[in-house]
Amino acid sequence: MADLIIDRAQSSDVPAITLIHNEAITYTVASWFDEPRSEAEVARWIDDRVRAGHPFLVARLDGQTVGFTSYGQFRPYPGYRHTAELSIFVDAAYRRQGVGRRLIEALVEHARQAGMHSIVAGIEASNEPSLELHRRLGFVEVGRLPEVGRKFQRWLTLVFMQKML
Ligand SMILES: CC(C)(COP(=O)(O)OP(=O)(O)OC[C@H]1O[C@@H](n2cnc3c(N)ncnc32)[C@H](O)[C@@H]1OP(=O)(O)O)[C@@H](O)C(=O)NCCC(=O)NCCS
Repeated sequence: MADLIIDRAQSSDVPAITLIHNEAITYTVASWFDEPRSEAEVARWIDDRVRAGHPFLVARLDGQTVGFTSYGQFRPYPGYRHTAELSIFVDAAYRRQGVGRRLIEALVEHARQAGMHSIVAGIEASNEPSLELHRRLGFVEVGRLPEVGRKFQRWLTLVFMQKML
């Protein structure tokens, strides 16, 4: 995609990031939040990630923010500091055009440069687009936790996929 730019998130990206995330929260099991997030909450999320030295990246197409990705430490204990856990969301109107692939490739490169040893994605078991995207980028399934989540009155199974860096 010729005009797609991957960049660090700025405050001007917050409204679009909030909209994209809230669409997934409201209508899908891709995110396990129950309630939409405010722009202030999303701005804090980005700030916390950046202060911790982690990337928060956006994809811009002709100046419009069409997707985002970020990682944090896998679990909040010092021994996990070399393992990242990622999030990725692409605007529904811009999917299947290579945006997700470009975002994760950039994130993985950042993780390598930062000295991470591996990167993990936690994906709901019926989310075939995300499972396939991660498989294509060299992630392999390493674990499956049956019915650890609940949303829309049903149990959700979490698949962990991992890429060694
Ligand atoms: C998963 C998601 C990020 C993929 O983003 P995207 O920009 O559409 O992905 P890309 O166009 O870069 O796709 C790259 C590859 O992933 C796979 N893929 C992506 N979407 C797919 C789909 N709907 N069905 C099957 N494979 C798919 C394909 O192999 C694709 O390559 P191809 O188009 O050459 O066949 C996007 O669908 C999304 O935001 N979904 C809602 C939120 C979500 O599920 N986030 C992940 C939570 S774990």
